[in-house]
Amino acid sequence: MSESQQRNVASPDGKLGVLLVGLGAVATTYVAGVENVRRGLGKPIGSLMELSTIRLGKRTEQRSHRIRELVPLAQLDKIVFGAWDPIPDDAYQSAQIAGVLGNEHIEPIADFLKALKPMPAVFDQAYVKRLSGTNVKKGTNKRDLAEQLREDMRSFKKEHGCDRLVVIWCASTEVFIKAGPAHESVAAFEKAMEENDAAIAPSMLYAWAAIMEGVPFANGAPNLCVDALALQELAAANNVPIAGKDFKTGQTMVKTVFAPMFKARMLGLAGWYSTNILGNRDGEVLDDPESFKTKEESKLGVLEHILQPSVYPELYGAIYHKVRINYYPPRGDNKEGWDNIDFFGWLGYPMRIKIDFLCRDSILAAPLVHDLTLLMDLAQRAGLSGIQEWLSFYFKSPMAAPNLTAENDLFIQQTKLKNTLRWLMGEDQITHLGVECYEYDKA
Ligand SMILES: NC(=O)c1ccc[n+]([C@@H]2O[C@H](COP(=O)([O-])OP(=O)(O)OC[C@H]3O[C@@H](n4cnc5c(N)ncnc54)[C@H](O)[C@@H]3O)[C@@H](O)[C@H]2O)c1
Repeated sequence: MSESQQRNVASPDGKLGVLLVGLGAVATTYVAGVENVRRGLGKPIGSLMELSTIRLGKRTEQRSHRIRELVPLAQLDKIVFGAWDPIPDDAYQSAQIAGVLGNEHIEPIADFLKALKPMPAVFDQAYVKRLSGTNVKKGTNKRDLAEQLREDMRSFKKEHGCDRLVVIWCASTEVFIKAGPAHESVAAFEKAMEENDAAIAPSMLYAWAAIMEGVPFANGAPNLCVDALALQELAAANNVPIAGKDFKTGQTMVKTVFAPMFKARMLGLAGWYSTNILGNRDGEVLDDPESFKTKEESKLGVLEHILQPSVYPELYGAIYHKVRINYYPPRGDNKEGWDNIDFFGWLGYPMRIKIDFLCRDSILAAPLVHDLTLLMDLAQRAGLSGIQEWLSFYFKSPMAAPNLTAENDLFIQQTKLKNTLRWLMGEDQITHLGVECYEYDKA
């Protein structure tokens, strides 16, 4: 039996409002997916919270449960959706434009999708150069705009009779912003909002508004957003869970599986060239060099963190790592990611691996949004606040405490995720030691 204490986790009963910033390809694929599952028209493939099992106790105990049976998660029929977007299209029109789902997953739920109309967004083209929108809030300054977002959250909660809310950023990647003085403290951040400082991007206003309302906030794009120290400080003070950043869906998911393999076998790396073609709106936004820079930083970091070149200079000290994203409209959401990996083995002999990943971006992202929604809500009901590093499994560029380096290896992240769920429920950690199975009674 476990010797750990179960944490007090409040019940998930009552409605959970999921507010999505951005109602584009990822967001519509997610909401349409949930509705298809609710109506028995599809399966939630790719969602750990709906499908994965978790082992409890020793292997000999044969205790394995669906995660949903172990932890109290919100039920699908208790979820209601809302969104903001500068483009006024409802979820039906937006899903049609995104072109991810076929009519068989859109038409039977057309009533549901048409009813999901985006609230006016806090949007400024200076931060997403390739977009323009008409469904945009007006305000006297950035603080005023953020206060309007708070009001939206309160009204949505009241109108839909929600007990709790979660906000997930599924909006476009903003231009690259380096952390500066305006992000260093809550006081500096709030002053900067009032002064319309360019260092305060719309994504930060949504995050600030959510945290002020006590609503968990996760960032699915590579924007600085909740990485700002001021917002981390505010989240800790208000007991609000935050997480980010950038959903780990396609090429980076593959990279964080292959890179640990090279390191586990002590094989060296000379170069890793990654290139993508994609033709969705995200691809168009990323065609702007300033938005691409934000994405590039997020994608480049993972190798360094996994391979530790300073510890293994002879293996990883001189890697040429390049990442390219090319906007190519004919492909739509069906991205193609190529990786060419030049590695070396015994006595330095060179070898090569080539990966051609024909993926569907939003099909891979939607289950991550779903799991994050459920887990951010769980985190709050369990009294966890500030950065939720245990959710690093879901992110390309995971957030961690300032004195820590985040874990990027997908399988260590999975262990961390499952061990945190065991810890929450007072179950023993799984160490994979197992020596007790081979220790015979010698008496
Ligand atoms: N596999 C993936 O698809 C994947 C993986 C990792 C990260 N992401 C990130 O997720 C985000 C969404 O991707 P997508 O394919 O759905 O893109 P998309 O272009 O289809 O949708 C983004 C939506 O956000 C809206 N938007 C932009 N600025 C906004 C603002 N300030 N407020 C509210 N809405 C705003 C846009 O109008 C658009 O409708 C992007 O930042 C992308 O980089 C996607």
